[in-house]
Amino acid sequence: MTIAPVQSSPSLGSSGWTDTRLILALEEVVEKELNRHLGVAKEWMPHEFVPWSQGRDFDGVLGGEAWNVEQSQVTPLGRVSLVVNLLTEDNLPSYHHEIATMFGREGAWGTWVHRWTAEEGRHGIAIRDFLLATRAVDPVELERARMSHMSEGFESDNSHSMLHSVAYVAFQELATRISHRNTGKHAGDPLCDQLLAKIANDENLHMVFYRNLLKAALEIAPDQAMRAIADVVTNFRMPGHGIPGFERAAAQIAIGGVYNLRIHHDDVLQPVLRHLRVMEFGGLGPEGLVAQNELGVFLDGLDSQARKFEERQAALLARREARRNAG
Ligand SMILES: [Fe+2]
Ligand SMILES: [Fe+2]
Repeated sequence: MTIAPVQSSPSLGSSGWTDTRLILALEEVVEKELNRHLGVAKEWMPHEFVPWSQGRDFDGVLGGEAWNVEQSQVTPLGRVSLVVNLLTEDNLPSYHHEIATMFGREGAWGTWVHRWTAEEGRHGIAIRDFLLATRAVDPVELERARMSHMSEGFESDNSHSMLHSVAYVAFQELATRISHRNTGKHAGDPLCDQLLAKIANDENLHMVFYRNLLKAALEIAPDQAMRAIADVVTNFRMPGHGIPGFERAAAQIAIGGVYNLRIHHDDVLQPVLRHLRVMEFGGLGPEGLVAQNELGVFLDGLDSQARKFEERQAALLARREARRNAG
């Protein structure tokens, strides 16, 4: 199938690309990216990263030892981030439903949807096994949070449009990568860091797949793709926002430097936008130019918000340090 440029097909004006047409037009790109992904993705074994020898029976059916926070070797920040990351991974059935419904389960798109789901499934399995074997988190609280979070389901803010969905996952996969990576760095456990680095590597490959797809979409339907990018960037929310106690956890995660406005701007939005040359992208019609301009204004605002956040963060950390020294 050939990708028809907008101008060669007068019936497809700047807003004439329906989702169905885009999915067909991008099938070849999906196939190429899928093959590239399969060529670079290396098999890895989650069970190798779990220190099973540390595991022991819990109370309840087996009459073992109840969980206690003193048993946990990870840092308090690591514990909060690990739970948010795991619960986010746990909602995979909802994400699968979203992309299977949007992209379909046939052809290269379908092969990608299933392969991606299988890779993502590994993340929740690996993190949960690690947390339970090392007694890093309260297993009862974790299970209740999982039940509550999954029972809510997840509906993307972007499921109304194929281009919005692609744009969202391109940023979201990178956000997830950074979040796992920084959680590992702050967890205070070298094996946990290694496991999360492995997971972060998967997330990076997912980001590359969607980013390259978004690049092709920008070439095919520049105005619509620019609008989708602007909408997604200006309204971005992490998929875990429905987790019980998310606001409080997110504040700790922000102050601790796992994920905050500065990281979101510098390490998530900018790398994708720069790679796609979104702000320099030429050949836009009036609608695309409006979207590009909106994006520029938003990014400037976000950068100054991030600067204010950093000042608050530094002041708070200094107060904590002073209290520690006084105590
Ligand atoms: Fe994942
Ligand atoms: Fe991923």
